[in-house]
Amino acid sequence: MTVAAKGKGGGAKEPRFAERVIAWQRTHGRHDLPWQNTRDAYRIWVSEIMLQQTQVSAVIGYYQRFMEGFPNVAILARADADEVMRHWAGLGYYSRARNLHRAAQLVMSEHGGVFPQTQEEIEALPGIGRSTAAAIRAFAYGARAAILDGNVKRVFARHGGVSGYPGEQKVERVMWEMAQERLPTGELEPYIQGLMDLGATLCVRSRPRCKDCPVAVDCVALSEGRTAELPTRKPKKELPQRETTMLVLMRAGSVLLEKRPPSGIWGGLWSLPQADDDAAARKLAKTLGADWDDGEYLRVIEHGFTHYHLSIKPVLLSARVRHGTEEPGHLWLPLAEAHGAALPSPVKKLLTGLAAGTPLFD
Ligand code: ADE
Repeated sequence: MTVAAKGKGGGAKEPRFAERVIAWQRTHGRHDLPWQNTRDAYRIWVSEIMLQQTQVSAVIGYYQRFMEGFPNVAILARADADEVMRHWAGLGYYSRARNLHRAAQLVMSEHGGVFPQTQEEIEALPGIGRSTAAAIRAFAYGARAAILDGNVKRVFARHGGVSGYPGEQKVERVMWEMAQERLPTGELEPYIQGLMDLGATLCVRSRPRCKDCPVAVDCVALSEGRTAELPTRKPKKELPQRETTMLVLMRAGSVLLEKRPPSGIWGGLWSLPQADDDAAARKLAKTLGADWDDGEYLRVIEHGFTHYHLSIKPVLLSARVRHGTEEPGHLWLPLAEAHGAALPSPVKKLLTGLAAGTPLFD
C-alpha cells in the first residue's frame, strides 16, 4: 500500500477538501431524494439500510412503499415478518430486512421507541456498521462523524493516491484516518451527502468525469494518470482447476441433452451428458448406445466460474440408437436449434460452432 500525501485537506492555496465538496453539493448534488430534508432518524435509517449495496434509482420505489407500510419504528417493530419481507422482495440482500425488523424491536424494547444517538448504541443494532451509523448521525443529528462506504473509498483512494485493495484491513484503516482528517467542523450534512454524490455521479468506477469534479485540482490519481487503476481491485485468488468430459452424442443431426440436477452449477439447465474422467465417460457412452472407441476429441473449452475453473473435454460420438427418447431428463435437440436453446454458455458455444461447421479439432 502506498499513500501519496498531498496535504491532508488539500494544498495551502486550494480551499480545504471539505469546503469544495460542500460548495459543489449545494449547486450540483442531489437534494430531493425521498429520505432527504428530514431529521427523522427512522426515515434516514431505513434509507441508509436500503442504500447499502443498492443504487438510489433501485431504492426509491421500495423506500416509498416501505414508508407507507411502516411509517414509524413502532409500526415496523409490531409488523409481521412476512409483511416486512414482502416489502423487500426484489431488492436483494434480505438479511438487511430481517436485521431492520429486529433492530426496530430493539429500539422499542431497549431505547423506549426513540432511535439512539451515540455511535456505540447505533452500531450495536443489527445491520448497522460504522459507516452507516455515522451517516445516520450526520443526517439526523448533524453529528461530526466520518463515513466510508464503497463509493467514498473510491473518492479517497483516487484523491489521496492510496493504492492497495480497500477491502484489506490496513488499507481500510488508512482510509478511515483520511475520512476523519477531512471532516469539516460544521455543515456535516452537505459534506457527507456531497461525498456520496461525488462517488455516485462523478467519481464513478469507469470513465470518471474529472473535468466536473470539485477536487480534481489536487487529485493524485488524476495528476498521475491512475484513475483507471485506483482503487486497487480485489486481488484475484488462484482458482481450483477441475476437468470434465462431455459427450456430444449425435444422431441424424440431433444431439442428446441431459437435464442437470436442480442444485449445483447450471442447476436445472439442459446440458451435455458429462463424466469426471475418460473412464467414466466411456461407461456413460456405452449406456447411451455409443461406442467410445469411435469417438473424436474436440478442442478443449476453458470456462471460468466464480469459484473454480473448468476444462471441458468434449468427445464427438455417434449414437447407434436414439437412446433416452422416452426417459425424463433426456432430449434430442436438432443441432440447428442450439442457438435458441437455454444452454450453459460453453455448451451453447460448442454446439453452435458444430452446427456452423467451425473447425473444432486441434
Ligand atoms: N448512498 C448511501 N446513502 C445515501 C444517501 N443518503 N443518499 C444517496 N446515496 C446514498
